[in-house]
Amino acid sequence: MIQQLPWREIQFPTHKDARGSLTMAQAGPQGLVPFEIKRTYALHNLDGRLGRGSHATFHTQQVLIPLAGGFMARVTDGQTWRTFELNQRPFNYEITGLYIGSGVWRELADFMPGTVILVLSDTYYEDADYVRDWESFMDRVVHGEGGKPSE
Ligand code: TYD
Repeated sequence: MIQQLPWREIQFPTHKDARGSLTMAQAGPQGLVPFEIKRTYALHNLDGRLGRGSHATFHTQQVLIPLAGGFMARVTDGQTWRTFELNQRPFNYEITGLYIGSGVWRELADFMPGTVILVLSDTYYEDADYVRDWESFMDRVVHGEGGKPSE
């Protein structure tokens, strides 16, 4: 059986004409976002020397969409690590986003100057859904010790 990894790049289509570009992300049967969107936020004014993330979520799924600039994302399910380079170049036809499923540890770093990342999420913000240290991630998320917080 081929097991699907809980992360993947998503190419968001762009309508480009002389006036500029319009890129669309939507959920539902016609869309590429694999969940109903309850929350959206942006990461901006980022310091290229500092990382973000370093956490996992029990339930929350997300899609990270670089609207400007670029960054590196490292993700792991506790076994496999994968690194993605997500750049939005000025003349890119499409925008490549990164889907990150629940139970995935992520580290974001190497932000280019002017980077803006739009994040789509399928939950309302709830701090109890976040695991912010590596040992708890391995114990609680990967090995399922102590149970999950309720959805
Ligand atoms: P944090 O999870 O550390 O950001 P990142 O994932 O980029 O490393 O969140 C930073 C702060 O913002 C923290 O105090 C929690 C708060 N926050 C909200 O209030 N709502 C949200 O939707 C998110 C993602 C964070």
